[in-house]
Amino acid sequence: MSNNQDLHNRRNAALSKGMSTMLPVYVERGQNAELWDADGRRYVDFAAGIAVLNSGHLHPHVKAAVIKQLDAGFTHTCLMITPYRVAVELAEKLNALVPGPTPKKTMLVTTGAEAVENAVKIARAYTGRSGVIAFGGSFHGRTYMAMALTGKVMPYKVGFGPFPGDVYHAPFPVPYHGVTTEHSLAALEQIFKCDLEPNRVAAIILEPVLGEGGFYVAPPEFIKALRALCDKHGIVFIADEIQTGFARTGRMFAMEHYGVEPDLMTVAKSLAGGFPLAAVVGKAQMMDAPVTGGLGGTYAGSPVSCAAALAVLEVMEQEQLPARAVQVGDIITRRLRKLQDQLTCVGEVRGLGAMVAMELVRNRDPHAPDADLAKALVQRAAVNGLVLLSCGLYGNVIRILVPLTASEALIEEGLDIIEKSLREILAAATPLAANG
Ligand SMILES: Cc1ncc(COP(=O)(O)O)c(C=O)c1O
Repeated sequence: MSNNQDLHNRRNAALSKGMSTMLPVYVERGQNAELWDADGRRYVDFAAGIAVLNSGHLHPHVKAAVIKQLDAGFTHTCLMITPYRVAVELAEKLNALVPGPTPKKTMLVTTGAEAVENAVKIARAYTGRSGVIAFGGSFHGRTYMAMALTGKVMPYKVGFGPFPGDVYHAPFPVPYHGVTTEHSLAALEQIFKCDLEPNRVAAIILEPVLGEGGFYVAPPEFIKALRALCDKHGIVFIADEIQTGFARTGRMFAMEHYGVEPDLMTVAKSLAGGFPLAAVVGKAQMMDAPVTGGLGGTYAGSPVSCAAALAVLEVMEQEQLPARAVQVGDIITRRLRKLQDQLTCVGEVRGLGAMVAMELVRNRDPHAPDADLAKALVQRAAVNGLVLLSCGLYGNVIRILVPLTASEALIEEGLDIIEKSLREILAAATPLAANG
């Protein structure tokens, strides 16, 4: 029996089935954008632990910063009890990086879902209101409020209700599926007519590019209209940049593409290069609204994670990762568009910077999602040496989140594997289909 198989059998006996395992590939070693499994097989990593490793697996600069923190002799004191320098420096850095002229403040937590929970707490404390509006297809996490906000039932919400109340969903604009900005704005007005008056809404939370939902990029006019709506009614605009943040889209944060200042921003994932850390960064006046002691957590802002995050931010600056993301995005988009020209199963190729996806459909029909093909491609790609992720409300979108530190040769190797795997699946389904 292979080592992977043995570990997989043990995993099935020891770990809850509620936690899925996409691939029975048990990682023993990583380096930048490559992984090696328990059987010694090598993989190109296009998943980056779901958007966590924009700076690669344990960048040497991050490793050195973590070792330095360990050498300082403490890994935990609790930020709320006896704080430490790296947390203060990180908060200062984040306050300076998050876009917009209004002075910012930060609160630190551990996971993305926690950041979302806290953003809602802050918005409610600031406004004295309770309603929250989110969007269909969005993903905000697996804790109860984050689940309530998430606009995708399967598998995130099935069997877990009831959820916290006063949460409403409007459709996210997806022109490819016939949902325009006007439709989405009309749906918001509908919520104000049918469900609650705007001055009962504490916050609108939005991913500028839907992550789990399928890498749909919010149109600029939509973001601008949301900002105007929030300004008109005193609603807090929360940008969830947990997946889009830290250079992925070609800017440090996706909101920079829109020239719109959010009131609060949630960040996590690539912030600390694989160490658990998340934050809410926002307008200082709002961030100070909760009662002292109302925000926090035992592990909130771990010193090891903060040290890693400071090093990640230095890497992003020194290696100009936002600009690199634009180049990486161009390489990927060019290759996938070529595939789209040749294969009728590639319905759309889209993205922002290096947050690129291709939507798999039957015969170029946007309304005929092909989740089976996406699933098969993820599995086939692994056989051929590539870790790849799917996403989307219908599970038919292939998304690429390769570390931005990957070499061009490695990115091309991964793209070759996607093409080869897709053609193998199509050829096996029908010998003629491989040509389109
Ligand atoms: C946009 C967005 N928000 C929130 C989360 C939740 O983050 P976490 O899994 O760290 O709780 C995710 C995770 O995928 C995400 O992509």
